[in-house]
Amino acid sequence: TDLAHIRNFSIVAHIDHGKSTLADRLIQATNTVADRDMKEQLLDAMDIERERGITIKANTVRIEYEALDGENYVLNLIDTPGHVDFAYEVSRSMRAVEGSLLVVDSTQGVEAQTLANVYQAIDANHEIVPVFNKIDLPASDISRVAEQVEDVIGIDASGAIAVSAKTGEGIREVLEAIVNTLPAPKGERDAPLKAMLVDSWYDPYLGVVVLVRIMDGVLKKGDKIKMMQTGATYPVDRIGVFRPKMENAGELGPGEIGFLTASIKQVRDTKVGDTITHEKKGCEKPLPGFNPSIPVVFCGLFPVDSNEFEDLRDAIEKLALNDASFSYEMETSAALGFGFRCGFLGLLHLEVIRDRIEREYDIELITTAPSVVYHVYMKDGTMQELHNPADMPDMTVVDHLEEPRIKATIMVPDEFLGDVLKLCQDRRGIQLDLTYAGSRAMAVYDLPLNEVVFDFYDRLKSVTKGYASFDYQMEGYRADNLVKMSILVNDEPVDALSMMVHRDRAETRGRAMCEKLKDLIPRHMFKIPIQAAIGGKVIARETLSALRKDVTAKCYGGDATRKKKLLEKQKAGKKKMRQFGKVDIPQEAFISALKMD
Ligand code: GTP
Repeated sequence: TDLAHIRNFSIVAHIDHGKSTLADRLIQATNTVADRDMKEQLLDAMDIERERGITIKANTVRIEYEALDGENYVLNLIDTPGHVDFAYEVSRSMRAVEGSLLVVDSTQGVEAQTLANVYQAIDANHEIVPVFNKIDLPASDISRVAEQVEDVIGIDASGAIAVSAKTGEGIREVLEAIVNTLPAPKGERDAPLKAMLVDSWYDPYLGVVVLVRIMDGVLKKGDKIKMMQTGATYPVDRIGVFRPKMENAGELGPGEIGFLTASIKQVRDTKVGDTITHEKKGCEKPLPGFNPSIPVVFCGLFPVDSNEFEDLRDAIEKLALNDASFSYEMETSAALGFGFRCGFLGLLHLEVIRDRIEREYDIELITTAPSVVYHVYMKDGTMQELHNPADMPDMTVVDHLEEPRIKATIMVPDEFLGDVLKLCQDRRGIQLDLTYAGSRAMAVYDLPLNEVVFDFYDRLKSVTKGYASFDYQMEGYRADNLVKMSILVNDEPVDALSMMVHRDRAETRGRAMCEKLKDLIPRHMFKIPIQAAIGGKVIARETLSALRKDVTAKCYGGDATRKKKLLEKQKAGKKKMRQFGKVDIPQEAFISALKMD
């Protein structure tokens, strides 16, 4: 296809504003998929995505459209994830296309992720077509949304298209706007091959599949290609396009988006953002690089049943093959046995991986409290990254600690603003900005990531009855008064329960933890102190009193069957205990204690 007849675009939106539904409608309106094959939300391939209604991996589809001018166009849509954890995936997909549809739910208006995502599109120099969705609903208010788009985002909304992705109203206008408003890609067919590696994933039948955008030159089957960043070379087995199923093609020329397979062993061998060229007569300068996405949240994953450790290893290795942003290494915990310390892009990423292990591999997991990556500056002038509170060096050799901060943007109806400000303040937030647009406020806060990874999002949802939206970006590291808090049961430290906290909040957290454990650990024949400590100093303490000798004493020696039942129950309970020093701690105690509130 010649460049003038290609349009490449993405759709940016806040979650639930109708991105996937609109994509489905565009596919359907152009007969890309036969009606009988049309499933709702075609682009959300994975089950878990469909179930949760979120798009995790960027997906792509090539649409052929005969426009009102009588010409045939090829429209390539790259679908982008809407959640903050995957902001990096959004940014790289944006570099592969020239324009965006900005979808805003006209019953809701501009939300935090609308902003975050549209700014990425603006950064990538996109032409942007605003699309106001859900006009079939009575609460739809197009003029209000148009005003917001102009005031809050600062782009012209005069060319906005009102649609209902549900009924199909306005879909033809969207297709025409893609052709008429978005620019055609540029590129030279005769130049050496220069292609962007946009994404890659593991396909059980084809091996690693690489999504590419051709900038210059032509890519053909059998070509010897070279990844400029890694230097690795491969013969290309297959190239093709997505409609949305994979379809082989003879070649991909400038401006086109498609896939290639070569004998690449694992997803980790492909670096997203890398430049692909020919091994011989390659291009000289690579495309400007990307910053790879790095894990920011770490936690331990342990099998509830320690016999399942090998199964867990297998599951984690398989998942990692397909997800280069997920990291893991083996970890041993005195309390929880063998497991893995895993790194994630954010909490959603963590949840998705944990769910998949539990569901697809049928392994029950204990997840330890999520922790961020601290920078530990030693007295000798070196710096260590701390991924696990259990590895915290002794304070006597530590000079100071730094923690990651984020810039959070929260949009909320006025009536809830007070609660949101209080929540941010409680979490050691520093207000950077507060503005109003209509009856909504936009608060921008500098917050420690550590205070956000626990349950910030849940709290925000609950204090605003679900009306707030939230987005964040990493802002670098800052020193603060941070300490490691250990939990001791019967004077033995329980490694899986230690955590990093701000000094000012240590007592409160420590007390809460001790109280919780006191309820969760069964009584023993002896008294058990449960303590929270910083270094050698105890900051909170509870005591679990001793059990009287005979567990069946309270049965008054009467009913024999009842007595037997009680003893059996006690025995069964024992099995699920972890021996800790002289104390047995039941599995549920870890699970509940680690669920922070
Ligand atoms: P993520 O994939 O989570 O980012 O969400 P999304 O933006 O893709 O939203 P999705 O297409 O899943 O739509 C969210 C909900 O809105 C679904 O229940 C849709 O059925 C509904 N919806 C989408 N478009 C319309 C519309 O035009 N009218 C009405 N009434 N509902 C719509």
